[in-house]
Amino acid sequence: MIIIIDFGSQFNQLIARRVRECRVYCQIEPPTVTADQIRSWAPEGIILSGGPSSIYEKDSPRVDAGIFDLGIPVLGICYGMHFMVDTLGGKVKKADKREYGFASLTARQQKGLFSGIGQETVTWMSHGDSIDGLPKGFSVSASTANTKVAAMANIRKKFFGVQFHPEVAHTAKGRKMIHNFLFDICGCKASWTMKSFARDTVSQIRKTVGDKSVILGLSGGVDSSVTALLIHQAIGKNLTCIFVDNGLLRKDEAVQLKEKLKSHLKINIRFVKAASRFVKALSNVSDPERKRKIIGKEFMDVFEAEALKIKDADFLAQGTLYPDIIESQSAFGGPTAVIKSHHNVGGLPKKMKLKLVEPLKYLFKDEVRKLGKALGLDDELVWRQPFPGPGLAIRVIGEVTKKRLDVLREVDSVLQEEIRASGYYRKLWQSFAVLLPIKSVGIMGDGRTYENIVAIRAVTSKDAMTADWAKLPHRLLGKISNRIINEVRGVNRVVYDISSKPPSTIEWE
Ligand code: XMP
Repeated sequence: MIIIIDFGSQFNQLIARRVRECRVYCQIEPPTVTADQIRSWAPEGIILSGGPSSIYEKDSPRVDAGIFDLGIPVLGICYGMHFMVDTLGGKVKKADKREYGFASLTARQQKGLFSGIGQETVTWMSHGDSIDGLPKGFSVSASTANTKVAAMANIRKKFFGVQFHPEVAHTAKGRKMIHNFLFDICGCKASWTMKSFARDTVSQIRKTVGDKSVILGLSGGVDSSVTALLIHQAIGKNLTCIFVDNGLLRKDEAVQLKEKLKSHLKINIRFVKAASRFVKALSNVSDPERKRKIIGKEFMDVFEAEALKIKDADFLAQGTLYPDIIESQSAFGGPTAVIKSHHNVGGLPKKMKLKLVEPLKYLFKDEVRKLGKALGLDDELVWRQPFPGPGLAIRVIGEVTKKRLDVLREVDSVLQEEIRASGYYRKLWQSFAVLLPIKSVGIMGDGRTYENIVAIRAVTSKDAMTADWAKLPHRLLGKISNRIINEVRGVNRVVYDISSKPPSTIEWE
């Protein structure tokens, strides 16, 4: 086990993720944790995270200095390194030259953290302070052009400090350094798996919830399905899921969920049919933000009315992932610009004063998929591409009507069939169709047509923050276009979207 001390860096969970990728269990603890508590857990090592403070400021966070007497290895990253230096008798000062972004690192020796790294390697920096005097027993192990002490070590005590961030992907050999720390320095064994995470999470949920009831808004996506499965394993029938059919779903979505989660896994799900009220509320609305607001409000109303029918509910479960949390905070805690107002179940239902259960909040999407697999979730649900809360309403550009939704549903169904058959479905972050609010002239048989245009959007991405348009084979695009025009009444032209994010977004609205 590795203990990560959280000094407030936005990369904390990334450190945890890198440790998990090495199949080592880790726990993130606040700086208030004591050395005695840590001793009682018997971890193999400690990682001190970065953070936004300067160590010489009055209220900068500190952890019990006794951690340096536990006889286990410690790795300090950025602020974590400054804390180590300050506590062990060295000196930290404001840097003459601040360093943000890439920096080429020269390692003095190929051992310890830097074993197998090579002499020069690219690292990623983000700091305004630097080390002015090393504590006793330490030596400099790497430098950059602007930072003399870019890394330091006390080999005898197994204390290491790095000024850069090994956990971010921009640090080319960062994973190798973390690997070196975990296995060569701490002597960890790679034995942690998603199955053990599932086991621990289930027992944690049981402890938190006890014999109380939990409500969960089920969307059919992998996040809420995995959340449902975990909570169901923990508390069985005390979990009630609510699935709102808002009329903006893809073809057969509700049917599939009924089969896969309700019949197969015996999860308690209430299906609420609310299509007509959503479509009615959206009539004559074409502004994207207004659409989102209306759908969000209707959803809350329907969900709340249904949730109020469930007796003794104390908890509301949500499939929040870690990137959802980061995305809603900016790097320095200030508000970020709202590009599109995302509609999530957050803060719902207010009247009931429910406590939140968010078992996935430290995981990334690909980890949730692994967890789903470990829990025995059907492959089709595990590999489901993300689908936005406002559904097809933000893919019917302009006014949303039942008729236009039906056209798009048919188009989408053909598209999904072809993308799956081609083997591309899992390689793409998303693939979907957009119904445009303009018509174009075509010719079918001997007659002139004047019909709808649909755009196909397929993107690759790691986390939806950036995305590239997918270079699908022309033959596949041709087949998709042919089938759509032939099989879906009301469409006579198909175009392919070749824009990336940024500057475009993935969804059109
Ligand atoms: P954009 O269009 O902002 O989308 O590039 C990024 C990712 O977020 C999904 N998306 C949403 N998901 N509620 C959701 O749960 C929403 O309101 C919403 N809007 C966009 C989108 O499908 C893409 O994966």
